[in-house]
Amino acid sequence: MAELSFTEEELKEIEQLKAKFPTAKAATLQVLWVAQRKYGHVEPEVQNLVAETLDVPKSHVHGVASFYTQYYKEEKGKFVLDVCTCLSCQLCGGYDILHHLEEKLGIEAGETTDDGMFSIQSVECLGACGYAPMLQVTNGVYVNNLTKEKVDTLIDNLKNGKMPEFESMAMPELEKRNQAASE
Ligand code: FES
Repeated sequence: MAELSFTEEELKEIEQLKAKFPTAKAATLQVLWVAQRKYGHVEPEVQNLVAETLDVPKSHVHGVASFYTQYYKEEKGKFVLDVCTCLSCQLCGGYDILHHLEEKLGIEAGETTDDGMFSIQSVECLGACGYAPMLQVTNGVYVNNLTKEKVDTLIDNLKNGKMPEFESMAMPELEKRNQAASE
């Protein structure tokens, strides 16, 4: 990999992030996001760049990056499908969804399709347990109450460049439910 560096603009952003925290070390999560946005992953060389920029130990940045599945420690596909297999999702068929995806895409969790389009990850709770089973697309959109048919539609749509609507525990939805309950 060619020598890595942040641009002047990114360094300015990093300074602003650092200013929000009592120590540079505390800005590690934020700066890793800046790095992942730039490179698409935080492979060890990128982690080193973050460590050097923040002037913190490489081991610290490595520890933070390895703890969170949201940070990609290797190059990933265009769409990273984080399938929750934590308790609620597991009880509601999270592993069936994961295995269906693995079979459909011809890869296993942790792998990327040859065309670089999809990666699958099995992840811990994403905080949408009431909508289990669910998955997240590339650290963004949540797709809830999954069925195999819904997964098939999702994959077809993504292949055609169509991102799903965000389906998180949106407040309007909760408000609608609360309102219905009180009527
Ligand atoms: S267990 Fe899947 S979102 Fe919480």
